[in-house]
Amino acid sequence: MNKIITRDGSITYHSDEVGDNYHTLYGAKQEAIEKHVRALDVVPGKVIFDICFGLGYSAAAALDLGPSTVYCFENDETILKKILEIDADFKSFEMIKEFVRGFFEGKNVYESKGCKLVMMFGDAREKILEAGEKADYVFFAPFSPAKVPELWTEEFFRNIRNKMKTGGKLSTYSYAGWVRENLRKAGFEVLDGPIIGRRSPSTIAVAR
Ligand SMILES: C[S@@+](CC[C@H](N)C(=O)[O-])C[C@H]1O[C@@H](n2cnc3c(N)ncnc32)[C@H](O)[C@@H]1O
Repeated sequence: MNKIITRDGSITYHSDEVGDNYHTLYGAKQEAIEKHVRALDVVPGKVIFDICFGLGYSAAAALDLGPSTVYCFENDETILKKILEIDADFKSFEMIKEFVRGFFEGKNVYESKGCKLVMMFGDAREKILEAGEKADYVFFAPFSPAKVPELWTEEFFRNIRNKMKTGGKLSTYSYAGWVRENLRKAGFEVLDGPIIGRRSPSTIAVAR
């Protein structure tokens, strides 16, 4: 796993195994803020699923707005350990680190200052079925559809939809036609998200 400094100065990594970066090189921090938190107009006090938590930037960006509950879906301890090695420019990153330290000590739930973080460690396609609350917002950020098409299926989107409140919103950086079609078939209305660092918009999907 190679460390990369993206154009906004924030750190990401390249996965040799998958052949993909963890974030856009345009700016990892910007991606979390613009393509997820601002794209969904996140307000505090809600239930968020961060599907493919990685370095936890999207969760941190949401918690910077105020306390919320975040279910964090991740299946790789290596990237979680990286969180403990780096600094990231989010007010809540220390909280993310505390949560991850606790996870490595055997605690899946972290609660502080009105925030609740729940580690859903394992394959997100299975762990989604175990989520104990319904989400207002979903940040959906697997590696790219071309690299891991098995995480962008109608079935997985349907299982996510079933764990969301009606009117809840999902954000993802992909604008691939077949991904959007799978979202529609799974019960979402599909809208264009912001155009950040590329020519095409990201995607917002609203649970119908
Ligand atoms: C593109 S990165 C996400 C970056 C993240 N949003 C962030 O802000 O750091 C994709 C993440 O998905 C995780 N992942 C891959 N397959 C998974 C699976 N089946 N279930 C849960 N997480 C998975 C990877 O370990 C990686 O951390």
